[in-house]
Amino acid sequence: MATAAGRLLPLLQLLHALLVVAAAGVTYDHRSLIISGRRRLLISTSIHYPRSVPAMWPKLVAEAKDGGADCIETYVFWNGHETAPGKYYFEDRFDLVQFARVVKDAGLFLILRIGPFVAGEWNFGGLPVWLHYIPGTVFRTNNEPFKSHMKGFTTKIVDMMKKERFFASQGGHIILAQIENEYEGTEQAFGAGGKAYATWAASMALAQNTGVPWIMCQQSDAPDHVINTCNSFYCDQFMPNSPTKPKIWTENWPGWFQNFGEANPHRPAEDVAFSVARFFGKGGTVQNYYVYHGGTNFGRTTGGPFITTSYDYDAPIDEYGLRRLPKWAHLRELHKSIKLCEHSLLYGNSTSFSLGPQQEADVYTDHSGGCVAFLSNIDSEKDKVVTFRKRKYDLPAWSVSVLPDCESVVYNTAKVRSQTSMVDMVPETLQASKPDQWSIFTEKIGIWDKNDFIQNGFVDHINTTKDSTDYLWHTTSFNVDGSYPTSGKHPILNIDSKGHGVHAFLNDMLIGSAFGNGSKSSFNLHIPITLKMGKNEIALLSMTVGLQNAGARYEWVGAGLTSVNISGMENGTIDLSSNKWSYKIGLEGEHYSLFKPDQGNNQRWSQQSEPSKDQPLTWYKVHVDAPQGYDPIGLDMQSMGKGLAWLNGNAIGRYWLRTSSSDDRCTPSCNYRGQFSPDNCRTGCGKPSQRWYHVPRSWFHPSGNTLVVFEEQGGDPTKITFSRRVATSICSFVSENYPFIVDLETWDKSVTDDGRVASKAQLSCPKGKIISSVNFASFGDPSGTCRSYQQGRCHHPDSLSVVEEACLNNNSCTISLADKGFGKDLCPDVIKTLAIEAHCS
Ligand SMILES: *[C@@H]1O[C@H](CO)[C@@H](O)[C@H](O)[C@H]1NC(C)=O
Ligand SMILES: *[C@@H]1O[C@H](CO)[C@@H](O)[C@H](O)[C@H]1NC(C)=O
Ligand SMILES: *[C@@H]1O[C@H](CO)[C@@H](O)[C@H](O)[C@H]1NC(C)=O
Ligand SMILES: *[C@@H]1O[C@H](CO)[C@@H](O)[C@H](O)[C@H]1NC(C)=O
Ligand SMILES: *[C@@H]1O[C@H](CO)[C@@H](O)[C@H](O)[C@H]1NC(C)=O
Ligand SMILES: *[C@@H]1O[C@H](CO)[C@@H](O)[C@H](O)[C@H]1NC(C)=O
Repeated sequence: MATAAGRLLPLLQLLHALLVVAAAGVTYDHRSLIISGRRRLLISTSIHYPRSVPAMWPKLVAEAKDGGADCIETYVFWNGHETAPGKYYFEDRFDLVQFARVVKDAGLFLILRIGPFVAGEWNFGGLPVWLHYIPGTVFRTNNEPFKSHMKGFTTKIVDMMKKERFFASQGGHIILAQIENEYEGTEQAFGAGGKAYATWAASMALAQNTGVPWIMCQQSDAPDHVINTCNSFYCDQFMPNSPTKPKIWTENWPGWFQNFGEANPHRPAEDVAFSVARFFGKGGTVQNYYVYHGGTNFGRTTGGPFITTSYDYDAPIDEYGLRRLPKWAHLRELHKSIKLCEHSLLYGNSTSFSLGPQQEADVYTDHSGGCVAFLSNIDSEKDKVVTFRKRKYDLPAWSVSVLPDCESVVYNTAKVRSQTSMVDMVPETLQASKPDQWSIFTEKIGIWDKNDFIQNGFVDHINTTKDSTDYLWHTTSFNVDGSYPTSGKHPILNIDSKGHGVHAFLNDMLIGSAFGNGSKSSFNLHIPITLKMGKNEIALLSMTVGLQNAGARYEWVGAGLTSVNISGMENGTIDLSSNKWSYKIGLEGEHYSLFKPDQGNNQRWSQQSEPSKDQPLTWYKVHVDAPQGYDPIGLDMQSMGKGLAWLNGNAIGRYWLRTSSSDDRCTPSCNYRGQFSPDNCRTGCGKPSQRWYHVPRSWFHPSGNTLVVFEEQGGDPTKITFSRRVATSICSFVSENYPFIVDLETWDKSVTDDGRVASKAQLSCPKGKIISSVNFASFGDPSGTCRSYQQGRCHHPDSLSVVEEACLNNNSCTISLADKGFGKDLCPDVIKTLAIEAHCS
């Protein structure tokens, strides 16, 4: 028998492989995509290739796969690829083919959202700035120059993918492609032109003959043969616009992006899981986390204005590539539990019925006798006990239980069983290889070299720089004679700007700065000044902080100064707005590429053993050693103001220590219950929005590393340090109060004496580390959150010793709540919880 089977197996595999190739195309019906001839329920995860580095891709994709992903989804970033008309770049972080290959090698599908408009908190929404300056171009409407370039780029990308045989129709792994992006609102703004454009975009895409379906997200009028999909925090109520199309969720936002000057948004894992379980319970078939790994807006790629360089997004994998726990693991369990239901969900018949005023069951039964149920409690306050098929089920408020056999709860979205990890940035000294060797370059204040042009009045900032740099200098001068006020009152310099920021210099001194913010780009500045008799010189450095990335006609949103005057003079106001202004685009240091090592710039830098502090417009260069070990690295810029940083010529990005206000929507604790909004659960009020800046490990050489920082306002560069990102504390908080929760891995239904399933606490340190101490352990009714647990009235005196026994010096440990050590029940009326906080080192 064994031998016969042994011979048969390779044959069967061959046959299977042939079948798969033969049926490799992707189609769909009302229920799902059909891949290789069968319906599929897909967990998809967005990872944007240019928001990390190629050295990180294999691990990120592997972590997504381990987290339960079937599929990776990415945008394609046009302005990173077509840097000038017809001039393409597909190297390094923009090596799309290589990224697609990494996904393929991991055995995952790929969803390619070509756009080419992407929004995505990406500079200019992903469209090239040069495209705006092609005469007669209007973005994203029925406009010939736009359509012709859009078609050109779309075709370029499709052809590249075809050449690699990446489309599923060619035996590859790309199962869906997207054209346009969240166009519905813009379409309305453009009226008939919008409608015509949407139709054109769909037919242009279909004519590419990829052999895989096209999707359009947030596009309820998507034509036949293009599937319209949902983007939101919840999509269970979404229905595609035709009964022939499956229900697809392209963007489930597991967190939110952040603006400089705002607190840090979070979305609780329980609510993300709730939204996903509701979606699959209500007939969904592809669900994508936007984003699963957000990463970093390196260089000047961030959109905005004002979006932070970090695009962490509170995603299941953090900016640095580490698992965010419990979110990553809580969703992993959810994916496993949903996969147990896949066949009945996809091939069964569904019924929904009420189990209470805000409680319901979604039940699927199939021909093979399979039955799965999703029991929901959408009450945002009250836990409920419901009866389903004559059994009682506890349903916490705002939660869904998954029953792959219509009986056993394998998962409840509000029951987080995974550990929590507390990640810290552990400072390293910035090891300067030649400690006393700082190199300094100070920008001239105002026009360096020759001006680019002189004009009466103001220009639009973006029209002038065309985003080749953030910076645009404006200088003018005026004379002061006897009209200077003598009353002791200072005259006031008044500046109005459309955005995004300005540093104002008077007679070579920085006298003030002002910025817009994420909700309002425009701003004004009023500063008391001291003028001197005779000629006074004003130099204004206007700047952008990431270009607009969405909205109808967003490409016409301008920036820059609109009015400058000096009020409070004895003889009235000096209006400088119509003065003769000299302009210079960019900084001298940018012109000489001071951020690139070895550019023959040595004579421009001056060596200093102790660099001067609080000096505006200064470039600093220092040789540094790579931090030891393998932990991810963040550059701690706490001692600095605002500027740009590079390691070995690689652009880390804009840094800005802008703080959020102390009452910027932060909450002491985060309630997962109820409709989520990004304002629900913010942290970090009164602190810099972003203190650390990710420097990928692969950018370091073994020795001879050069860090270059350009500081606009003034800081102390000697206090810049690298920090290692490390999970130092791990916590677990597990209760025994949910009957019928079955162990997912073992399908273990073994129950305790009173008919409950024995819950387990599981702790695990990062690879190579051990549990070196147990800081808290309480079996009883403890409360609080990780790092602030407290004993309750019921506390087992052996709690600590039981946990230490199992965990100390181990990389991981598991403790059953039915552990013999907790045998003697000191408080029988209490539903027991085991809370543990341990330290990894
Ligand atoms: C689903 O319902 C249809 C129509 O009522 C019926 O023909 C079919 O057999 C049912 N399928 C299953 C799996 O119960
Ligand atoms: C006020 O006097 C200054 C010279 O001190 C002159 O430049 C300016 O034009 C005068 N303003 C008005 C409103 O007369
Ligand atoms: C001076 O500038 C301010 C804006 O900063 C503006 O409100 C005011 O009208 C200006 N005054 C004159 C006389 O131009
Ligand atoms: C943005 O600035 C405006 C004033 O220009 C202010 O009213 C608003 O509160 C600021 N918003 C944030 C989020 O800081
Ligand atoms: C930029 O310049 C164009 C003309 O080249 C003009 O139509 C447009 O209004 C300008 N944009 C802004 C924001 O001023
Ligand atoms: C932890 O270590 C102890 C001995 O130090 C061992 O008895 C125990 O089995 C270990 N537990 C795990 C989960 O490895």
